[in-house]
Amino acid sequence: MPRSSQISRAILLAVVATSVAAAARITAQQPLAAGHAVLNNQDTVPVYSDSQATAGQAVWGKACAECHETNDVTGPDFRTKWSGQSVFALFEQIRTTMPDGNPGTLPKEEYAAALAYIFKLNGLTPGAAPFVGDSVALAGVKLILPPASSGY
Ligand code: HEC
Repeated sequence: MPRSSQISRAILLAVVATSVAAAARITAQQPLAAGHAVLNNQDTVPVYSDSQATAGQAVWGKACAECHETNDVTGPDFRTKWSGQSVFALFEQIRTTMPDGNPGTLPKEEYAAALAYIFKLNGLTPGAAPFVGDSVALAGVKLILPPASSGY
């Protein structure tokens, strides 16, 4: 085989090896398996709207991102802790403890929007109505997140 074609063959192999490695990395970062909010342990219900989640992303950037990675609210620890809890409990937890050091300082709608963004990050399907942090409306609605071993 002429030397030049050996060289191009080596280059080709290097390119193939690099693409295989890149493909493996993409597979390792699969999208998160989706979560659900369920009413009375059976019917999946939408608990936030897409536009609210978009507003919540801005709240997150303004009030949460200085301390948190999104992995803090999608990762295994979060899922293990919050799966099976009521969505209202998570809302109250955030509203009464965050931002750390300054709890309760955001308007209620901003807490609700930040939570909508967290729901979206966890793959919950949005609906027409925004999340309202109201214990009556949310009585019996539980957060079901995929097992901690999936996703990351
Ligand atoms: C000044 C830093 C800081 C800011 C700003 C902040 N957090 Fe936190 N957050 C923390 C710390 C520290 C913890 C861990 C507290 C603990 O576990 O007792 C925490 C815990 C949490 C948890 C609980 C996670 C779990 O596994 O249960 C949630 C949810 C959360 N924060 C959401 C938010 C949201 C939403 C915002 C913005 C509205 C926010 N945080 C802003 C520092 C912060």
